[in-house]
Amino acid sequence: MRIYARQEYLTPGAARTVGIITERVRPDEGTWLLEMASGKGEAAAHLAGEFACRVLAVEPFDPFVHIAAAKFWHFNLRDLVTLVRANGRQLPVRDESMDAAFCIGAPSIVGLEPALRELSRVTKPGGWVIVSDIVWRTKPEKPLGPEWGSLAKATPTTASEYGAAIEASGLAVEEVVTHPREDWEDYWRPMLEVAEEAKTASSTGGADIFFADEVESDVEIERRGVQEYLDYVTFVARK
Ligand SMILES: C[S@@+](CC[C@H](N)C(=O)[O-])C[C@H]1O[C@@H](n2cnc3c(N)ncnc32)[C@H](O)[C@@H]1O
Repeated sequence: MRIYARQEYLTPGAARTVGIITERVRPDEGTWLLEMASGKGEAAAHLAGEFACRVLAVEPFDPFVHIAAAKFWHFNLRDLVTLVRANGRQLPVRDESMDAAFCIGAPSIVGLEPALRELSRVTKPGGWVIVSDIVWRTKPEKPLGPEWGSLAKATPTTASEYGAAIEASGLAVEEVVTHPREDWEDYWRPMLEVAEEAKTASSTGGADIFFADEVESDVEIERRGVQEYLDYVTFVARK
């Protein structure tokens, strides 16, 4: 929660992914969208606020549910956005009831196959399923060492393996967009600001060097990961 204090989107290039959703789906007052893992509710608020479409936003993590609920209230979107606390692996939604379904930066967190299966299940035939995630441009030749932090524990999935998983869930991939490097930089910048502030002050009045170090080290590992191995990709698919 604290590392994300200065950002509304919790993934690289989320605004670009929302732009892709807008271009493909062309939502209007009659459109129903499903968002899996809606985080702080920024994408749902943007889409409902701009197009007056209906959004069913699903998120299990209580603090994000509260932030998103407050946002929908603040922007007077409660008649357009329904926020449900639920697991993406089991969406409380009927089969083929949505015009489009999307998940920004989270299918691999929810569980790639179960997430894609649910997104596909709830979407009407001919509807769009749009997902974005981290993929591996190159797989390491040997297992990564501890200097790679959490990346050492990740299961590397390439864009083509990811695309094959989408196809296996009954969808046809129409476009694969690799995000530019600046999307990563825009994602890290507010985290580094939070770290900088933590060096001089904290909510308890003193500096929190330990937290600042942790944030800077996480960003540094991810930055090296992007140089060597990682891409951020949006997949556009149709049922
Ligand atoms: C990287 S964040 C992305 C949030 C949002 N889509 C965005 O781009 O700002 C990952 C999100 O997945 C949610 N999440 C984790 N496990 C989940 C699950 N089983 N079902 C649905 N969402 C889950 C987290 O609570 C978090 O909000």
